[in-house]
Amino acid sequence: MARIVVVDKDADIFATPGDPILFCLFDNRVTITSVCGGNCSCGTCNIEVLEGMENLNPKTDCEQFVLSRIKRQGPNVRLACQCVPTGDVVIRIVPEP
Ligand code: FES
Repeated sequence: MARIVVVDKDADIFATPGDPILFCLFDNRVTITSVCGGNCSCGTCNIEVLEGMENLNPKTDCEQFVLSRIKRQGPNVRLACQCVPTGDVVIRIVPEP
């Protein structure tokens, strides 16, 4: 079972298989902003992947579009609602500007 370590929240949780990181965080009461509820439209669930990017699905077109719109680019920048872990990851929740 994949682990999700959230360095800025001092959290180390197990992912529910098939669930995006956002919902795994919700299930474990780790606070993250999610204005659109995981519908890939708001961009508030912005995370930085510090380790384990290879254990996440590639960015979808929708995720690329939203990250571009909120001007958050870079190989380690993702949306928690669009990342489904298949192995361990270490992340940081990016604060809203
Ligand atoms: S929760 Fe809105 S884009 Fe992820």
